[in-house]
Amino acid sequence: MTRAQVVVTRRPPGAVVEMLRAVAEVWVFPENRAIPRAELLARAPDADGLYCMLTERIDAEFLDAAGRLTAISQMAVGVDNIDLAACTARGIPVGYTPDVLTETTADTAFGLLIAAARRFREGFEEVVEGRWGEWDPLALVGRDIAGSTLGIVGLGRIGQAIARRGAGFGMRMLYTKRRRDRRAEEVLGVEYRTLRELLAEADHVVVVASFHPGTHHLIDRDALAAMKPTATLVNAARGPVVDTDALVEALAGGTIAAAGLDVTDPEPIPADHPLVALPNCFIVPHIGSATVRTRIRMAERAAANLVAALEGRQMPYCANPEVYDA
Ligand code: DGY
Repeated sequence: MTRAQVVVTRRPPGAVVEMLRAVAEVWVFPENRAIPRAELLARAPDADGLYCMLTERIDAEFLDAAGRLTAISQMAVGVDNIDLAACTARGIPVGYTPDVLTETTADTAFGLLIAAARRFREGFEEVVEGRWGEWDPLALVGRDIAGSTLGIVGLGRIGQAIARRGAGFGMRMLYTKRRRDRRAEEVLGVEYRTLRELLAEADHVVVVASFHPGTHHLIDRDALAAMKPTATLVNAARGPVVDTDALVEALAGGTIAAAGLDVTDPEPIPADHPLVALPNCFIVPHIGSATVRTRIRMAERAAANLVAALEGRQMPYCANPEVYDA
């Protein structure tokens, strides 16, 4: 019997290749960069399984080229780069990696909140540029985290992990999500608000809503105007959830005090982009889940998803489980 062929778009950490080789022939894009589109399309016709990263666009063009494809597994929890409906229509399950990155990503979001609200970037730049003068009672005063009001936009797994951190900081916590979650309210002590109410009431707003057409520019000019002028905005979701031009205006004009971003739009953001020049904007390059342990867990969870599919079992973590209803 011929063995299944798997295309891996970039070498992942952990034992992924060994796990996949146990059930299939495996081709790994040999360079340490995102696979070029032309190479991905050229490999598509031979692939029974695809192991991919969030840098690949998995759309109808790719799926049309991948006539043999029976399963896709992505090493990420977000799958907004994948046309899920098109995969479902073709009967292709899509694996993703929830849970294993929740705590690490919540740490990053909370770190960004502290860094932005407490003006770490300006302080760091003073030090490295030799501008650290004598102690000054009013220098670089920021806003408190402990005891303040935190607004969480999107109370999924990561939002709930952020709420647990907020509880440790003695914060009052508000949340908004599509459906009110009374169990989370009970367990975490969070209070439901509409987005507009939350933006007006929170001292700090952390956005972790998943990205889809309905959350594109969820935080737009009006949303930013609804926030307190002393507020911090953190985006640990996907760049386009926040309107970048509106954010530049809001940070430059004092509509809000600071921002901490793990994701941007565009991404990567060019070094000469106006957002990067703003001293009250602290940006890191999409490293929310970037710890050694978590990246290995994500990589191996994605491999386990693909192995299951290639063995004819249901993927343990499937982003379009309705594919199995047909
Ligand atoms: C994801 O998994 O979607 C993150 O953005 C990368 O960890």
